Amino acid sequence: MEQYIIEGGTPLKGEVTISGAKNAALGILAASILTDEDVLIENIPDVNDINVMLEAISNIGARVDRIDAHTVKINGSTISELEVEDDYMRRIRASYYFIGALLGKYRKARVPLPGGCAIGARPIDQHIKGFRALGAEIEIDGGSLYAYADQLTAAHIFFDVVTVGATINVMLAAVMAKGQTIIENAAREPHIVDVANFLNSMGAKIKGAGTDIIRIRGVESLHGTEYAIIPDQIESGTFMCMAAATRGDILIKNVIPKHLESITAKLQEMGNEVQEFDEAVRVIGAPLQRHTDIKTQPYPGFPTDMQPQITVALALAEGTSIVTEGIFEKRFKYVEELARMGGRIRVQGNVAIVDGVRGFSGATVTAPDLRAGAALVIAGLQASGRTRIEEIGFIKRGYEDFDKKIRALGGRIRYLQ
Ligand code: EPZ
Repeated sequence: MEQYIIEGGTPLKGEVTISGAKNAALGILAASILTDEDVLIENIPDVNDINVMLEAISNIGARVDRIDAHTVKINGSTISELEVEDDYMRRIRASYYFIGALLGKYRKARVPLPGGCAIGARPIDQHIKGFRALGAEIEIDGGSLYAYADQLTAAHIFFDVVTVGATINVMLAAVMAKGQTIIENAAREPHIVDVANFLNSMGAKIKGAGTDIIRIRGVESLHGTEYAIIPDQIESGTFMCMAAATRGDILIKNVIPKHLESITAKLQEMGNEVQEFDEAVRVIGAPLQRHTDIKTQPYPGFPTDMQPQITVALALAEGTSIVTEGIFEKRFKYVEELARMGGRIRVQGNVAIVDGVRGFSGATVTAPDLRAGAALVIAGLQASGRTRIEEIGFIKRGYEDFDKKIRALGGRIRYLQ
């Protein structure tokens, strides 16, 4: 099984360049099939989830030319299959974006239902609510979702919860629907804005992305485009927490500081120094750091995808911190792994009570999911002695060259097949 071996105790110092945003790229790749013309996408992260998504796009018949690790040309004119194979849905949840894209372009789609996962049930009722509002018939049969519509007509949709996936999926289905669709209580994450900007570069008419009300005026068709993905907010934040936890000094390049404001604010509350530049942030980890409280919320609140990483930093700060997970119901599974390294965290429902310790000690631990895996790497880099992290396949789904970037910062980490 794939694992990392980490010899901890070295403050990480130096520079790291952030890759393209995984969760923007997944929506943008699905959106790329909405036109029959060539689409050139740059700055895609070379991570497993993206590579699986490109396989799925090729599998339904589109032309996919991987120009290099970070650039792909896609042409959706040769799509012959409106059914996405189960294998792709089982490997990445974002395959469900094919429902919105295939429905939006061909008014027909069949996609296996996504499973829940380590962080929660993750239903898709709001996606279905949006598709039905646009006039699609939705049937669930044999573990698959069938969507079809004679005609897609604009609707006024009010989401019951703020959901990134449903906001993107309904945008994909509505861009060529007749009339003006309004989405209220929309998600506002940077990757929502990136998907909307990408669609607008193809001739879509989307306004308000980044606010909680998005207006989509349907167009007849979309044309080709060339587009570069924004930097990854969560990879940036992960390295920010790495600098804090190891008392290091890291210049994190190719970021959009505005997207990191909630993370910057919390690290500064803890006593760390965070310097902001046009396209970089520098984090200097304070020797003694203070406790603070976190509540994960939709953007611009503190991101749920940064919850494990900031909790590790808080577990090494003075005093007791309260971390409330406001989005998913099972996102503290890594706490029992951290306890093996000397972490003192008690979980009660969706609240973690974090008693800071002076330092972790190395142990063998297992990554329960993508972001928790990254958090355990941060803990191992701080810990005295050796840490072995098993099941690191999760980490490779969302972080490009993670161990290579850490070694370049002086971290002693090895990848074992
Ligand atoms: C996206 O997941 C991200 N994944 C997640 O990142 C991220 O944690 C999440 O957004 C929140 O920011 C991708 O973009 C591929 P949601 P998504 O729909 O879209 C509930 C990572 O580490 N909900 O915003 O699935 C849901 O249960 C991953 O990169 C419904 O109730 O998240 C959750 O409690 C992990 N009904 C909340 O909304 C629905 O129909 C937010 O989910 C949809 C969601």
